[in-house]
Amino acid sequence: MSEQARASFGGKLSAILVAAGSAIGLGSIWRFPYMAGEHGGAAFLLVYLLCVFVVGIPVMLAEFAVGRHTKQNAVGAYRSLSRPWRWLGYNGVLGALCISGYYYIVAGWSLEYLVSSATGSLYSNDGSFTEQFSAFQASPRQLIYTILFILLTHLIIVRGVVKGIEKASKVMMPALFVILIIMAIRVAFMPNAIEGYRFFLQPDFKEAFSADTIFTAIGQAFFSLSVGMGCMVTYASYFKSDNNLTGTSFSVALLTLLVAVLAGLVIFPAVFSAGLEPAEGASLIFITLPEIFKDMPMANLWSAAFFVLLTLASLTSTISFHEVLTAYFNEEFNLSRKNATRLTSGLSVGLCLLTLLWHFDFNLFGLNLENISFFDIFDYFSANIVMPLGGLLTCIFVAWQMKGSFMRDEITNYGALKGRAYPLLRFTLRYITPMLIIYIFIKNLGLV
Ligand code: PFF
Repeated sequence: MSEQARASFGGKLSAILVAAGSAIGLGSIWRFPYMAGEHGGAAFLLVYLLCVFVVGIPVMLAEFAVGRHTKQNAVGAYRSLSRPWRWLGYNGVLGALCISGYYYIVAGWSLEYLVSSATGSLYSNDGSFTEQFSAFQASPRQLIYTILFILLTHLIIVRGVVKGIEKASKVMMPALFVILIIMAIRVAFMPNAIEGYRFFLQPDFKEAFSADTIFTAIGQAFFSLSVGMGCMVTYASYFKSDNNLTGTSFSVALLTLLVAVLAGLVIFPAVFSAGLEPAEGASLIFITLPEIFKDMPMANLWSAAFFVLLTLASLTSTISFHEVLTAYFNEEFNLSRKNATRLTSGLSVGLCLLTLLWHFDFNLFGLNLENISFFDIFDYFSANIVMPLGGLLTCIFVAWQMKGSFMRDEITNYGALKGRAYPLLRFTLRYITPMLIIYIFIKNLGLV
């Protein structure tokens, strides 16, 4: 596609906002607290922070470089640089499909909670919040809200990248920060909140060095920054040529970190105050947050405001992995943008139906697992396999396969910027990031 025909995001701020819009979403607000809750709290936070700097930012920069240089969808981008490496693009398409198979479902939960907060039913019910969540999951409403969410995403994507994505991101991001900060202040006054801070901020170093914690934290870093699956390649293909990629990647990563830490500072004090379990799993925030709101004056209003923002944050993320697939079908199969969008949305509905309707038992190699659903499989496979593998190969590609000048030119905008961080970035991309990912893959397989 010619440069002229291809849309691009407005200014510098727009690029940061849309990329941060993709990054910040359920990953930081829903997934991060539940993973931290299951993996030792503060130990997990510590390793996650490290992974964002050592793995997340370098890989994001590499993806930005590939995307802006080639101005194509993920598969086209890698193929145009080196034909065999198009497989790295397909890895991204696979990742986007897996995430589509469950992310819309969780986004649908948020939509349901938005509606039940606004109508007041969430707080007028007699049952506990745990019971209410289970009842919702067992009702057909779950499917309806999932499909509604895919439809919402579809409508924004149909309007085009620039109008749809840019506008949505500009409005919701500042509002999200404000409400998270208000909530963090509010929970500080709940009884027993101190236990929560201890859990979230006082690391147990033994736990931090366990292979499982590092493995999960690397996965979380990839997932929350939307890297390792071509999403940032696709988005950077719409960046302008004078964008400072280093500055953009740091801003995106820091904003994402801030939201995740704020989410932890809201959730954990509330968990301990309400006598709940931090290792509750996927339902954690949907059970904990109503506990915070219920004793506040105008509970419905606060709760609805929060879930509006969570829904919007999820929407700017669903748009981004929808766009990975839409751009791929549009450019690789010569489908019109409209038809590519329809195909992507149709596939998303199909995958979510699979996840919601099909549970099975798994008995193989002495492993007996009951009532498995695609929810966990898609989640695990995308965050812990597809994205880290994509990240590893991205490092090898840009730092070993491409000429040294490729990254330098992109980081410095062909000499217009100083690019002081370049030597450190090159060293990290060549050695540190790939070795860390390989080591943790091997260690997690129990080979060392
Ligand atoms: N980073 C998003 C979140 O944290 O919610 C999830 C995500 C979006 C992952 C887009 C991957 C992606 F391509």
